[in-house]
Amino acid sequence: MKITGKTKIMFAMAHPVGSGRASDVLNTYFASIDKDVAVSPLDVHPDDLGTVLAAIRCLRNVVGFGVTMPHKINIVRHLDHLTERARAIGAVNFVRRNEDGTLLGDNIDGAGFIAGMLRNGIEVKGKRVLQFGAGGAGRATAFALAEAGAKEIFIFNRDVAKARALAAELKAADGSVIGRAGEEIPTGFDVIINATSLGMKPDDALPFDVELIRPDTAVCDIVVSPPLTSIVAAARERGARAIGGQPMLDEQMDLVRQLVMP
Ligand SMILES: NC(=O)c1ccc[n+]([C@@H]2O[C@H](COP(=O)([O-])OP(=O)(O)OC[C@H]3O[C@@H](n4cnc5c(N)ncnc54)[C@H](OP(=O)(O)O)[C@@H]3O)[C@@H](O)[C@H]2O)c1
Repeated sequence: MKITGKTKIMFAMAHPVGSGRASDVLNTYFASIDKDVAVSPLDVHPDDLGTVLAAIRCLRNVVGFGVTMPHKINIVRHLDHLTERARAIGAVNFVRRNEDGTLLGDNIDGAGFIAGMLRNGIEVKGKRVLQFGAGGAGRATAFALAEAGAKEIFIFNRDVAKARALAAELKAADGSVIGRAGEEIPTGFDVIINATSLGMKPDDALPFDVELIRPDTAVCDIVVSPPLTSIVAAARERGARAIGGQPMLDEQMDLVRQLVMP
């Protein structure tokens, strides 16, 4: 990659930065579409977030940056503008630096998630959806499911108060969706989603009992690594259509381009 004075600069902000996989994925994507953009990992301690953002406002060749743990929620109060979906979700995963230096926060996790499902033949409109997880990514997928026309979304989460709060917010945001939550896992859903982090480690418990999966159930696991989680493998064994987290990530690439190069 040749970086020149014309190259647009982006960051993938985290703490710690880990393997730097996010910047690698973005660099590969921008190279594949012939865009002169270079992305670097940026290790920002939470205490320094405000100072770093003030500096980025002054960096004129920066077009934007990705945000991951632990900044996704805390960054919200530091930004100048938020998209409607970022405001509803209460978390940001990409930021555009406007030419005047102001910063616009967006959250494209949910849009990427829905696009990945549709590309893999999994329809949401009019469906009954059971979602496990109500963390940052789970909030994004739930709002996107409502926007995509899901008939009912049942949220099950280890911390049930979080699930109940999210279900109520869904209902308030979109009167046409039935948002429910509870401690018992109901049956009879068309689509089951794992939006917890269970499945990332080899010794993780399954996020739910595979008996819930029928051959006509669609299963989506948002965990990206490993590429084949236990729940995706179990669903396919049972004859169900199942996808992992990669399509959600892949679909976000084009959305990032649209955000930072409108
Ligand atoms: N494919 C993609 O593009 C994409 C994008 C974003 C995130 N992700 C993946 O999504 C997963 C969740 O990320 P996040 O940002 O939402 O994390 P998060 O905000 O920390 O939320 C974690 C979720 O997992 C649940 N959880 C964690 N450990 C659990 C356990 N032992 N038993 C039951 N539930 C457990 C949490 O439940 P409590 O609320 O009860 O703690 C919460 O619902 C991660 O694997 C992340 O890599 C994928």
